[in-house]
Amino acid sequence: MKLQFLGHASFLIEIKGKKILFDPFITENEKATHIDVDALEVDYILVSHGHFDHVLDVERIAKRTGAKIVSNFEIATWFENKGCKNVHPMNFGGTWEFDFGTVKYVAAVHSSTLPDGSVGGHPGGFVVSSEDGNFYYSGDTALTFDMKLIPLSTKLDFAIFPIGDNFTMGAEDAVVAAEFVETNRVVAMHFDTFGFIEIDHQKAKDIFNNKNIELKILSVGEEINI
Ligand code: NI
Ligand code: MN
Repeated sequence: MKLQFLGHASFLIEIKGKKILFDPFITENEKATHIDVDALEVDYILVSHGHFDHVLDVERIAKRTGAKIVSNFEIATWFENKGCKNVHPMNFGGTWEFDFGTVKYVAAVHSSTLPDGSVGGHPGGFVVSSEDGNFYYSGDTALTFDMKLIPLSTKLDFAIFPIGDNFTMGAEDAVVAAEFVETNRVVAMHFDTFGFIEIDHQKAKDIFNNKNIELKILSVGEEINI
């Protein structure tokens, strides 16, 4: 599958010709000024939790493209009330079969208040299974034992984890998360966007290399086949 990093926690992943966007925070990301949010082709928008730096561009992209918003019940309803009619609410432990593969909404340890103060439900992550491969997008989270449940049902090809520390796991915990979910390939997110989460890339890579786990730190806009 094709994976493009759009900065912060946002990725555009193409599976079976469908374009799946995660947590778009582009128009106010100083590191992503070269990404044209109004040019993105998107079929689905998966939203992990309600924080500003994950929902900012959802409405704008959904209304332009008609993309289906997939999130927890509270967040899906919040967007529905804003006039985004194509939403799919989920909750923890639930799996749904979409036309690109199946999505399971799983727990995260974080918070999830929406930008206007509305309750955003509990924060989550997504396990995506498809003919092109399986991956886990954890969303913002601490390291948690719940991650050990994922490999019981899904053999992952890679995981997308925050490594910026302060608001989420840092690299030391993210490498343990990789062991918990039994993957040897991690794509980094939630680092360098602002001061609290600036990291030393080499130090993070060394932490992963010491456990023989590959850490991919992409530049904003970079696209890879994975
Ligand atoms: Ni957050
Ligand atoms: Mn965040």
